[in-house]
Amino acid sequence: MAQFKRTLITTALPYANGPLHIGHLAGVYVPADIYARYLRSKKEDVLLIGGSDEHGVPITLKAKNEGITPQDVVDKFHNLIKESFEKLGISFDIYSRTTSPVHHETASEFFRKMYNDGKFIEKITEQYYDQENGQFLADRYITGTCPRCGYEKAYGDQCESCGTSLSPTELINPTSMISGNKPVLKETKHWYLPLDQYEPWLKKWILEDHKEWKPNVYGQCKSWLDSGLQPRAVTRDLDWGVPVPVEGTEGKVLYVWFDAPIGYISATKELTPDWEKYWKDPETRLLHFIGKDNIVFHCIIFPCMLKAEGSFILPDNVPANEFLNLENDKISTSRNWAVWLHEYLEDFPGKEDVLKYVLTANAPESKDNDFTWKDFQSRNNNELVAVLGNFVNRVLVLTHKYFNGEVQAVTQLLPYDEQALAAIKEIRKETEKSLESFRFREAQKNAMDLARLGNKYLADEEPWKIFKTNPDRVKTILNVCLQITANLTIVLDPFLPYSMQKLRSYLNFEKQEWQRLGESDLLSAGHKINKPGLLFEKIDDDTIEKQLQKLLNTKMENELKNNASQPAKESIDFDDFGKMDIRAGTILEAEKVPKTRKLLKLKIDTGIDKRTVVSGIAEYYKPEELIGRQVSILVNLEPKKLRGIESKGMILCAENADGTLSIVAPDQKVDNGAEIK
Ligand code: 2FM
Ligand code: ZN
Repeated sequence: MAQFKRTLITTALPYANGPLHIGHLAGVYVPADIYARYLRSKKEDVLLIGGSDEHGVPITLKAKNEGITPQDVVDKFHNLIKESFEKLGISFDIYSRTTSPVHHETASEFFRKMYNDGKFIEKITEQYYDQENGQFLADRYITGTCPRCGYEKAYGDQCESCGTSLSPTELINPTSMISGNKPVLKETKHWYLPLDQYEPWLKKWILEDHKEWKPNVYGQCKSWLDSGLQPRAVTRDLDWGVPVPVEGTEGKVLYVWFDAPIGYISATKELTPDWEKYWKDPETRLLHFIGKDNIVFHCIIFPCMLKAEGSFILPDNVPANEFLNLENDKISTSRNWAVWLHEYLEDFPGKEDVLKYVLTANAPESKDNDFTWKDFQSRNNNELVAVLGNFVNRVLVLTHKYFNGEVQAVTQLLPYDEQALAAIKEIRKETEKSLESFRFREAQKNAMDLARLGNKYLADEEPWKIFKTNPDRVKTILNVCLQITANLTIVLDPFLPYSMQKLRSYLNFEKQEWQRLGESDLLSAGHKINKPGLLFEKIDDDTIEKQLQKLLNTKMENELKNNASQPAKESIDFDDFGKMDIRAGTILEAEKVPKTRKLLKLKIDTGIDKRTVVSGIAEYYKPEELIGRQVSILVNLEPKKLRGIESKGMILCAENADGTLSIVAPDQKVDNGAEIK
């Protein structure tokens, strides 16, 4: 740490096509905010940068679906997101957006510099094109079957089932998202970042020089680097985004993942004329706070861009988190399975810190984790109210009751008092250690240990029992408790900023820098404290029930939606049907395709021959239970390679609304090769 003069913290720019949910908060913004507040309290030079990611295909698709412009979409969500962050108390130094003119200029300049320096390769390739709409189908404009795992709704840029990053031409049965038609291939020119050329450098920079990165981050980088990098297109045929700043490139924009991280630079530029100090001085420590789905972009692609451009520093660390689930189910915007921040803020006014606290206590730092409303309630009631709130309240109330709200001088410190005061310094050390290694849940637990310590000290000393006989001893006990309370306002400030502000006002005490944490005379004798209010309130069962009911309603709505059958397809004539050659066949062998979740490799006796078919039914059938079963097989389907295996034909299945599959087979045993018509 010592070699750095300042820290620049960036937070993944959320897409402005939907509101924020607890997954975003737990993964990125709450930990980044804690860290920024901690460094500020140490009086370090630090900036916390955020903004909305306003380009990319999902935004244009949403606009199309809703009959509004992409600008309308991003205006609506940018404002909602920005306001929710403010209310929650995420202490951005700037929250900008990628449609800002400064960003367009900055991203164009970045591209132009790389272009002029010959850092791109230009390629003419065939890309899918929707003839009906006269549009190339980039990224999420196209869906199809994932060549890796067989998932049928994979996007042109990624399969959300197995996580593989894809290009549209890899999809099997590609379909246009605009028209539902099968697209055609058409030539187009694009610029590629030759990631392969940076491979040796990346291997050294990450795998040798950054062994300290979190294991989840390091591991993902290693596996990308081990499987070899390919050149990656950084432009798209789209009309929404930063136009490619090269003549004769109308209708082309920068790929959203090219411009978005440059948004960190643009936002810093908007914030301060001194921005270069933060981006170009090797004495700045650059940190990217992100979720795990962004690792490759922040650890591989953006660093290559920065290196190629040549004038910027590289990230020193990328503390990425895993994902947060909700009540044992993946958070999903399309299924409305989320706790939305703007709704939480409305339902729980004044409880901003509680959400932050619970998300930190349960942060998905090294593995995916689960948010449940019951846990939310119990952490609030059993930790914030029963430990922290209770301790502070008793100390403040007793000080008023016995000494009219005045801090008393210590009469004599006994060993137990000294031990309690000395423990504050220990807690400080532990908390710092955890914070500096980005272990925020552990840091918060360490900081809360001070409240636990205070509670225990008070319960052991029981000043209320001895006040009558030994008021002098009570003076000391309450002095110790008040010093602990004052120290709490420092150690817990990064985690519970609104509550610690409240506590400072009860104590009539100014905000103190981190450096003072551990002092045993933060409040001097004679200091008058104010009348306290309640720091935290219990959350009752009804409140939690309401939230659970809301989720239950979502589940029911989703089920209703799923149960609706698909409308019938267009009519066909008998000849069309007759073209399909469907036969009864018997499965002779069955085995899982390695490293896939869904695929089985089957050997089938079709009566005509014995052939291999790859089928996406592994989640519903065990290989051993399939052997000897008869199935219906479309034998004249063009062969396709799936995971390197040539699949000749297709097993017929019925698909439920939730995507589960059931084999469709003859009702009784028939001859292999029997025609199904
Ligand atoms: O995954 C996402 O939500 C992206 N919008 C994150 C972008 S991070 C940065 F590069 F801007
Ligand atoms: Zn897949």
